[in-house]
Amino acid sequence: MTTDPPVPPGVDPTTPSPARLYDYYLGGTANYASDRLVADRLRDLIPELEDTAWANRAFHQRAARWLARQGIRQFIDIGSGLPTRGNTHEVVLAQVPHGRVVYVDHDPMVIAYAKAFLADTGAVTMIQADLRDPPGVLDHPSLRALIDLSEPVGLLITAVLHFVADEEDPWRIVRQYAAALAPGSYLAVSHVTGDSKPPLSLAVCRDVYARSSQDIYPRTRAEVERFFDGLEMVSPGARTPPGVVHTGEWGAEDRARADSDGSRWLYCGVVRCP
Ligand SMILES: C[S@@+](CC[C@H](N)C(=O)[O-])C[C@H]1O[C@@H](n2cnc3c(N)ncnc32)[C@H](O)[C@@H]1O
Repeated sequence: MTTDPPVPPGVDPTTPSPARLYDYYLGGTANYASDRLVADRLRDLIPELEDTAWANRAFHQRAARWLARQGIRQFIDIGSGLPTRGNTHEVVLAQVPHGRVVYVDHDPMVIAYAKAFLADTGAVTMIQADLRDPPGVLDHPSLRALIDLSEPVGLLITAVLHFVADEEDPWRIVRQYAAALAPGSYLAVSHVTGDSKPPLSLAVCRDVYARSSQDIYPRTRAEVERFFDGLEMVSPGARTPPGVVHTGEWGAEDRARADSDGSRWLYCGVVRCP
């Protein structure tokens, strides 16, 4: 039987949270019985759930590595999630030893785990802020202590915009971030879609998240493409054309193999800011 971890201050272990659900899909232990109950229900219908999470996570890691190789030294990871294998700072610092990474999340579970996990090296920090408040994120004193916004930044917003409703205009929020970044900055986004999924799977997915602390809003390819309007889409190499693709395909050695059922749950793209 799985034992629940201690409950950090501010955390409600009885209501599933997107951060803990994702941790469970990735095989982590920072989750409670309430999370596992609904996640197991989702997995009954979507057996590719673990592949979905890892296809997204691997895109996030490949994008961070690729951006570091383009010369990006400072990264902001919004909706960063619970610490897992291959965290953003581990990927970045392996490429650029003097790199800096700021993690941003609103979930107190993420804050508690990240603070316990992150060594205080002066190169990495975690802030509690809401994605929907770009000034609250970008003007946070702890972010400003590490990130020089007059220099290019790698902004990672992966697997989180689908928790923002249309009424809150996630497209405007992304435009606000992109406009605040120095020329030569990059933005990497991934986003849940139901485009190639059975309606029943999509309905159960929506229902599971409706029972969690946040609803989910899967979007179509056209709606995801709108996040990149007016920005230059970049390609990580000849095998991936510039444009929106499923997460497994971005930068994959073998796109046909990477095009799995799991990968097809999320679109992604990377753009360069003018
Ligand atoms: C599915 S996880 C994604 C983790 C990581 N970005 C990745 O792609 O592997 C989504 C994360 O976004 C966070 N999140 C959701 N809505 C948020 C918001 N409005 N502001 C900040 N973080 C948010 C959740 O707490 C969770 O940790």
